[in-house]
Amino acid sequence: MAETRKFPHHLIREIFEQPDALRRAIEPRISLAEGRVQLDEIHISREELRALRRINIVASGTSRHAGMTGQYMMQELAGVPVDVDYASEFEYRNPVIGRGELSIFITQSGETADTTASQREARQKGSRTIAISNVEGSTIAREADGFIYTHAGPEISIASTKAFTAQMACLFLFALYLGEIKEKVSKALAQSYIGELLALPKKTETILAASDQVEKLAELYYRVDDFMFLGRAIHYPIAMDGALKLKEVSYIHAEGYPTGEAKHGPNALIDFRLPLVMIATCDRNDAGSVVRYDQNVSNMEGFKKQGATLIALATEGDTIVPQLANHTIFIPAAPELLSPILEIVPLQLFAYYVAAKRGLDVDHPRNLVKAVTLE
Ligand code: BG6
Repeated sequence: MAETRKFPHHLIREIFEQPDALRRAIEPRISLAEGRVQLDEIHISREELRALRRINIVASGTSRHAGMTGQYMMQELAGVPVDVDYASEFEYRNPVIGRGELSIFITQSGETADTTASQREARQKGSRTIAISNVEGSTIAREADGFIYTHAGPEISIASTKAFTAQMACLFLFALYLGEIKEKVSKALAQSYIGELLALPKKTETILAASDQVEKLAELYYRVDDFMFLGRAIHYPIAMDGALKLKEVSYIHAEGYPTGEAKHGPNALIDFRLPLVMIATCDRNDAGSVVRYDQNVSNMEGFKKQGATLIALATEGDTIVPQLANHTIFIPAAPELLSPILEIVPLQLFAYYVAAKRGLDVDHPRNLVKAVTLE
C-alpha cells in the first residue's frame, strides 16, 4: 500500500510506511530457530546485563515518549527499575548514576544536542550506554557502547511517526532480550511475545486500511481549539504523543494526561467544548490490563456525566466502551506491552488529517526543526 499510493505529504506517506518499518526493525532480530531475540549490536556482555541494577532512559520529544513505554516494558519483562528523563533536564541535574547501570539514549536523528551531551555526561559518570537511533553512524551511535538501529528509513517530516513506532519495537526487543538473560521471561512467554511482535505489521495495516474513518473524525473536529488526551500506565506516553502530534502539525492546544490524574485538577476543564481522546483498550489475557480497563470505564462514565465529548480507542470486539464514547476507533487485540505501537497510529492519522484540513504545511510546522543540534 505504501509503495503504490501517491501521497500528498511526507507525513502521511511515513505513517503508511510503518508496517514495513516495523518489519525491518523486528524481523532481523528474531531467531525463529532458537525462539529468542538476538541483538548483536549492543556489545555489552550477557554477564554485565544480568548484573544490571538500574536503567536510565534519556531522550527528547517523541523519542522520550518511546522511552516512557520502554520503562513499562523493561520493568515488566526484566524486573529492572527504570528512570526516564528529558535530555534537556538530564544533563543539567547532575544525575546520580554510575557503574552497574545502563543508560539508553533514544534519538531518531542521532544528533540532538541535548541527547548527545547527556550521553557524554553518563559515560563520564561510569554508566554503560546504548543508543537507539534511526541514522547509522550518527554521533549518538558512534559514542555509545552499543546501539540498536530502528531501520525505519529516512524520516523527512518533522513530526516523528515511523521512527517512533520502530523505537518502541526496538525497546520491546531489548526488554525481552534482557528479561531472558535475567531469567525473568520463560521460553514459552518469549515464544508467545515473538509471535505477537511478528504480527504487529499486519495489525498496523488493518488500522491503516480504516484511515478513512479517522479522516471523517478529523472532518468533525478540525475547527476545535483544545483537546485532552488521556491514557493510563503504558498508554499514558501514547496520550502524550497523540497530543504532541496534534500540537506539532495543527498548532491546536492539546495536552496528554494520565487518566487517573484528571480528577486532580484537569476535570475543571472538562465539558462538551473540550473533546477527550481516551485510550481505553484492554488485553483480556492480562489481569492488570483488565483492572485498568475497568477503571477507565468508570472514568468514562464520570466524564459523560460532566457532558464531555469522548473519542475512545478500544480493542476490537469491545462492546462497553463504544456505548460510552461519542466516537470509537478500534485497535486489533494485542498484549498490553505491545498495544502502544498500534494505538499511536490512529492518533498520528488524526493529527495529519486535522492539520491538512486546516490548510497547514504539515511537513514543515512553524518554529520546529527535525533535529535540534544546538543546545
Ligand atoms: C524535535 C522534533 O525537534 O526533536 C521531534 O520536532 C523529535 O519530532 C525531537 O521527537 C527529538 O528528535 P530526535 O532526533 O532526538 O529523536
